[in-house]
Amino acid sequence: MSTTTLAARRDRALGTGAPLFYDKPLHIVRGEGTYLFDDTGRRYVDMYNNVPCVGHANPHVVEAMARQQATLNVHSRYLHEGIVALAERIAALHGPAIESVVFSCSGTEANEVALRIARGESGKQGIVCTNATYHGNSEAVGKMTRIGAGQNTSGDVRAIPFPEMFRPIVPGASESDLLEAYLERLRGVIRGFEEDGTGFAGLIVCPIFANEGLPDVPRGFMARAAEVVRAAGGYMIADEVQAGYCRTGRWWGYEGTGFTPDIVVTGKPMGNGLPLAATAASKALVDGFRARTRYFNTFASSPLQAAVGMAVIDVIERDKLKENVARVGASLKAALGERKKTCAAIGDVRGQGLFIGVEMVKGKALEPDSDRAIEVVNKLKDRGFLTSNAGAFRNVVKIRPPLVFSQGDADEFLTAFDTTIAEING
Ligand SMILES: Cc1ncc(COP(=O)(O)O)c(C=O)c1O
Repeated sequence: MSTTTLAARRDRALGTGAPLFYDKPLHIVRGEGTYLFDDTGRRYVDMYNNVPCVGHANPHVVEAMARQQATLNVHSRYLHEGIVALAERIAALHGPAIESVVFSCSGTEANEVALRIARGESGKQGIVCTNATYHGNSEAVGKMTRIGAGQNTSGDVRAIPFPEMFRPIVPGASESDLLEAYLERLRGVIRGFEEDGTGFAGLIVCPIFANEGLPDVPRGFMARAAEVVRAAGGYMIADEVQAGYCRTGRWWGYEGTGFTPDIVVTGKPMGNGLPLAATAASKALVDGFRARTRYFNTFASSPLQAAVGMAVIDVIERDKLKENVARVGASLKAALGERKKTCAAIGDVRGQGLFIGVEMVKGKALEPDSDRAIEVVNKLKDRGFLTSNAGAFRNVVKIRPPLVFSQGDADEFLTAFDTTIAEING
């Protein structure tokens, strides 16, 4: 069936507007490791998908999934050792403050649980997020989607500008002055909550500000923000849905930022494609949540989630994927940084591990150039490399391959990137 015919059927079946990537959409039929294959058998290097973190169709995960489904899969109101062991294993990957886990099926649900813990425990409603973030699509969590700074001065969710060095809120300020300026915006929103009686429950952030475009932040921001939040009686929620599971070359995005969260949310990569998400916190916080809500989630905490969740961590550890991410990611970022020197359209290269953003700009003022980012993404796709564009201005070419992405894949990509940039440079 032609791509056009399938796209027309899709419009009818799913409704027009169900999002599709690329000017000419891709019809994929198979995945293996880092690669996706289209209906003609053409191979693409997947440099976008973080869900299949241990690789598409990973044999160890497939086997664990099939074995468990063929043995037992049922809801969570029976004793079953698998889910207990998975919770223990996840907690052990954090410091001692994280002890217990509430499982769910999506990042959205896990963030809802996190908000309910912070609000229930503090007895206050006010949640601070950043102005260009995304934490999920439900009514409660969707309130935090790209709300813009300074526009939301009422309501129980309010935003601060995300911290960044590239387009800072105080142009020309020193890094330490900038740090203070961002902290002052946080203090201001907290004050607003307290003054109008909403009260302050907590701050939720992706520790690497993934959806904001992976900004470099003023040094010490997260640690200082955590002090401000805790002094005001709030909880620190780390949304690790994108940053977690070794994406940065560390297990968690918050490692290396100088703060330890009270509540950690994980999702996407946990099940390599099986819906699996988690909200982890101290036992006291989780006990309080369970007592207040009697939370139950039909497909969560199941033997199937447990078997698959364990298999994913097994592969990450067995194949030393954290180390692979740190090594290949650092070399790819350095190589892309070199390209910046000769291409005026590249304003910045940022990121950690295998999560790299290439910021496309135009003019002397380095204005965001989303058209250019989209052009690069489409040209790379035509050359067999799948990326996307993201960030607060949608002008950042987003590179976020499965964790099994190799140095060989990176070298192949750089050749295609160079050809693409040469075309752009004209
Ligand atoms: C940082 C972050 N948190 C939460 C979510 C929501 O996860 P889900 O789509 O599984 O509900 C996303 C999705 O892109 C995300 O990027």
